[in-house]
Amino acid sequence: MIRILVCEDYAEVSRRAADIVAAQLSGKPDSVLGFATGSTPEGMYAELARDCGEGRISFARACTFNLDEYYPISSDAPCSYRRYMEENLFSRIDIDPANTHLPNGLAEDPEAEGKHYDEMIAAAGGIDLQVLGVGRNGHIGFNEPDEVLILGTHCTKLTPSTISANSRFFASEDEVPKRAMTMGLGTIFGAKHIILLATGAEKAEPISHLLAGELRTDCPVSLLNLHPDVLLIADRAAMGE
Ligand code: F6R
Repeated sequence: MIRILVCEDYAEVSRRAADIVAAQLSGKPDSVLGFATGSTPEGMYAELARDCGEGRISFARACTFNLDEYYPISSDAPCSYRRYMEENLFSRIDIDPANTHLPNGLAEDPEAEGKHYDEMIAAAGGIDLQVLGVGRNGHIGFNEPDEVLILGTHCTKLTPSTISANSRFFASEDEVPKRAMTMGLGTIFGAKHIILLATGAEKAEPISHLLAGELRTDCPVSLLNLHPDVLLIADRAAMGE
C-alpha cells in the first residue's frame, strides 16, 4: 500500500526522510538499512550526518546495503557509488565501515556477486528500511524499464536515458559505465519498509503511474503498488502539481 507525504520543498523531503531513518534506528539500533545514491537523497544524508554529529542518532550498530554500483568501476573511482556513500554519509557518521555494503563493481563473476550480495542481505536478517529514489524513466535501483524484470541482484545494461541522466556526474557521457550491478525487484521487495523519495517535475510521470495503481514493467516504480508498506515522500512538482 502506498502512503503519501507531500512536502513543500526539497528541504522538507530531506528532513522528513531523515526523521524516518532516525526513528527506525531509535526503535532498532541494529537496523539493516538499504540506501540509494543520486541527487535526491543527498539532503537526507546531510541531515542524518548532522543528527549523528549532534548525538541524536547512532549508526554504531547499524548495517547498510546499497541498491547498486556501476560495473565495471573501482570503489575509489571518483564517480563510484562507494565513493558517493563515503563522501555523503559513511565518513560523517559513527558506522563501522565493515558494516557498509555495496555490490562489488569489479567482481570477476557478476552473477556470483549478485547471488553473494543477496545471501549477505539474507544473513543480516533482511532489510528493515529501504530508501529509494526513482529514475525519470521509472527505474528503481537500476531495474530499467523492460518486458522482463529480474528478481535477484544482477548485472544489467543501463538505458540511453539513464546514461544521459547520470552523465551530469561524469566529465562526459562517454565516461558513464554502460552497465551496473543492482538489487533486483525481489531483493527490493524483501525490505520490510520502503520510503520512496521523489522531487522535481521530471519525476511526475513515473509517480503518476504509481499513483494510478498501474503495474507496468516499462515503469518499474509502479510495481511498488504490490509492496505492503511504501511511503512516498514527494514535493509538489513530483506530484504533478
Ligand atoms: C541510485 C539509484 C537510482 C536513483 C535514480 C534517481 O542508487 O538506485 O535508481 O535513485 O536514478 O536519481 P536522482 O536522485 O539523481 O534523480
